Amino acid sequence: MKGDFRRYLAAKESVDDRAFAPGVRRLVRSDLAGRPDGLRLLDAGTGTGSFLRRLLAWDVPDLAYVAVDADGVNLDLARERVAATAPAAGYAVDSIDSEGDGDGDHEADFDFAVPGETVGSLSLRGENAIDVRFVRGDALDAADAGGWDFVVAQAFVDLLDPAGVDRLLDGLAPGGRFYFPITFDGGTAFAPPHDADDAVLSAYHATMDGGDRLGSRAGRVLERRLDARGIDYVAADADWSVRPVDGGDGPAGRRDYPADEAYFLRVLVDTVADAVGVRVDEGRRRRWHRARRRELDARRLSYTARNRDVTGVV
Ligand SMILES: C[S@@+](CC[C@H](N)C(=O)[O-])C[C@H]1O[C@@H](n2cnc3c(N)ncnc32)[C@H](O)[C@@H]1O
Repeated sequence: MKGDFRRYLAAKESVDDRAFAPGVRRLVRSDLAGRPDGLRLLDAGTGTGSFLRRLLAWDVPDLAYVAVDADGVNLDLARERVAATAPAAGYAVDSIDSEGDGDGDHEADFDFAVPGETVGSLSLRGENAIDVRFVRGDALDAADAGGWDFVVAQAFVDLLDPAGVDRLLDGLAPGGRFYFPITFDGGTAFAPPHDADDAVLSAYHATMDGGDRLGSRAGRVLERRLDARGIDYVAADADWSVRPVDGGDGPAGRRDYPADEAYFLRVLVDTVADAVGVRVDEGRRRRWHRARRRELDARRLSYTARNRDVTGVV
């Protein structure tokens, strides 16, 4: 990934908000709202905590939320941003001491061990209680600890191999729910058309394939895996779509990208151009990259990619 990864994750949030499949989301929310207190939730590859910040607006039972990421800087930002967001969502914010006890009326339910290093914690108290532990480590090791009632892995499953998917699923307690939103499924496209698009984009998808990972068709591979395991699930398209819209102050008059999505797009264009490397003739690759950067600067570039949102119960 080219560029500042944390700024990219922040810029991705408004793109994800448009992409989430609403029917899948409704199903997940109503399931969560109906579950008993004491729910154990694993957020695998939490990044800067965007799933948890969104969840603060949902109707959820008392829960122990374990946010695992391999990168401690991401987790520091996640903790900071969750603490800043929670008051507006009606939660009082406190830290949890090293014994894992909350300060409020609700007891923190951290009487279970999770592999990895706990680098921060939060006690959120509103109409319900959310105790959050931020853990630096391998999300699959955390899944292996088992007994999870809910496993979310947002924009994460395409990084895994099939055995990794199995570990996420096997970590669920019977009746537990998984939710894998924004699972990449190929279909990258830019507009306006460029004569090197086919060469560049097929080379880009090829960089993700051939290894152990689910690859450029991760959504479809995941669904086949669920079918093979006889797991009932619901899935729908959750496509990313980024284009300049009316009402901005960009160089093309009043058209501009919303929020920080110009940065999101810049990272994608640079990442594609960098990733394809020698798979595409150097002159062609450079022309493609220059044209896409010019179109981006002129607020004329559009982009779509296919993702799948997938949820089910084991
Ligand atoms: C594409 S980002 C998605 C972040 C976040 N879920 C979101 O949607 O904004 C993937 C995240 O997974 C983390 N990651 C990658 N492999 C991991 C692993 N094996 N265990 C824990 N975190 C991992 C990365 O550090 C990164 O923050």
